[in-house]
Amino acid sequence: MKKIITLAILLTALASCSDSDTFQDISTPPDTGTVIPPVTEPTATFSYTKNAKSIIDANCIGCHQNGRSAGFRPLTTYAEVKAAVESAGLLNRIQLQTGQQGIMPQAGRMSQANIDVIVKWNTDGLKEN
Ligand code: HEC
Repeated sequence: MKKIITLAILLTALASCSDSDTFQDISTPPDTGTVIPPVTEPTATFSYTKNAKSIIDANCIGCHQNGRSAGFRPLTTYAEVKAAVESAGLLNRIQLQTGQQGIMPQAGRMSQANIDVIVKWNTDGLKEN
């Protein structure tokens, strides 16, 4: 019985030795002479679908769609919003101050964070996706 237990312990020890996950190569020390430059995250390009749409949907289309007070200038699709930026002064309107003539939304300026997203979307080239 004693022999069997000893054998079992030996086998267990052998089995754990073959576990390659625990193998560590200590023959070559890490190269500390190489300077690894810090990783700089590339700034993502903003798109209509990913960034602008949700802001326009939440703040503008209540009026800017068919049958509403600003139905003449719908802002419900990519093409419509892009056209409004390019030829209807959308960027100027959203950057006016609350109370100024022409401010959009009419009730008052959006958060600066929202405005910045629309401005960056334009700077990034008014991409759809
Ligand atoms: C409460 C209703 C309402 C909301 C909300 C609203 N608008 Fe307007 N918008 C209007 C009306 C009415 C006009 C037309 C009168 C004028 O030019 O000021 C207009 C005009 C505009 C124009 C000029 C259109 C043109 O062809 O001359 C732009 C651009 C515009 N809005 C963008 C926006 C944007 C962007 C938002 C959201 C951030 C927004 N609006 C939210 C009612 C609204």
